[in-house]
Amino acid sequence: MVIAQDLMARDLIQRDVSLRTFNTFGVEARAALFARIGSLRDLQQVLVDPRVIDAPRLVLGGGSNILFTRNFDGCVLKVDIPGLQREDHGAFSLVSVGAGENWHAIVERLVDDDVPGLENLALIPGSVGAAPIQNIGAYGVELAERFHSLQTWSIDSGLLQTLNSEDCRFGYRDSVFKHEPGLRLIVSVTFALPRDWNPVTGYVDVENELRRRQITKPKPRDVFDAVVAIRKRKLPDPALIGNAGSFFKNPVVSRQQRTELIERHPSLVSYDIGGGRYKLAAGWLIDACGMKGAVRGRAAVFERQALVLVNLGGATGAEVLALAREVQDVVRVRFGIELEPEPRIV
Ligand code: EPU
Repeated sequence: MVIAQDLMARDLIQRDVSLRTFNTFGVEARAALFARIGSLRDLQQVLVDPRVIDAPRLVLGGGSNILFTRNFDGCVLKVDIPGLQREDHGAFSLVSVGAGENWHAIVERLVDDDVPGLENLALIPGSVGAAPIQNIGAYGVELAERFHSLQTWSIDSGLLQTLNSEDCRFGYRDSVFKHEPGLRLIVSVTFALPRDWNPVTGYVDVENELRRRQITKPKPRDVFDAVVAIRKRKLPDPALIGNAGSFFKNPVVSRQQRTELIERHPSLVSYDIGGGRYKLAAGWLIDACGMKGAVRGRAAVFERQALVLVNLGGATGAEVLALAREVQDVVRVRFGIELEPEPRIV
């Protein structure tokens, strides 16, 4: 009897599970079915389960870039695939990491193991598998610049594929995966980290923080510590205040649009991104509308960074979404600019 039980596959599927602890906004929503995926074998087992076969599916990593506004009447696949392997390859260290690993823990471990290159991306909440989906970026570095390839499981065809950078079509907070949610599950990500390391310290906040610490020749750990300190000062810790980082993307406008805006609003913050295009600081636009710190019920615009919406405690996804719509409306009326949400809204 004991042997028979051992031979039987574990039932990986749970019913009616709260997703509150699986999203960094900390909003309540329930999944009709929920499965933790620790390996490809788990995934194969779950996808052929009769309860799941025709059900809608939602792949969840660290839950740090999603806003649930309703219950999910299908199966949530929570990716927990572990692992880290490293191989030196010419001028690069190739580091393959399981999609379920925590992003920040991996960045810190690589810095400590003298395999730097991701330190500017320290303290970004979420999992390794979610990082390519929105091509995470901060303080002068984007994931795409340190990317080698990734493995995905095509949920429909059941095939394991390796995708390179071109296949992933990375853009600003964008990739092919954002346009086809639910079709693939990222299994692992391989980074190409240059062995000849050079610090990226051009971003003004990083420059200032290193100067404050009187560091002129920063080591990887110095950059890591500086980025952690800046983020801790500016951004709310999701363990304490629910949030999903920047709620909106920084909008991109033409040179002419920017010139017209600057004539009316001389202190507008913008960055030249080449090709006659300019990125505007959405945080500045929201701030200029007087929305920084605005509280609506249990949702708010974060008081130290207007680009971040927060759950003050017990907010529903719908409350957060209503606040996001209000922010979009006031920015549209004042500046004629449409803000695009960054997180996935379900
Ligand atoms: N600003 C204001 N008021 C505010 C917020 C910002 O005036 O309330 C101004 C600042 O003074 C600054 C400018 O806007 O001049 C830009 O602000 P910040 O340096 O904080 O960066 P950001 O453009 O708001 C982006 C990313 C962040 C990333 C930082 C640092 C996006 C959508 N956001 O924010 O990413 O950490 O740069 O590189 O691109 C995230 O994606 O979740 C995220 C936090």
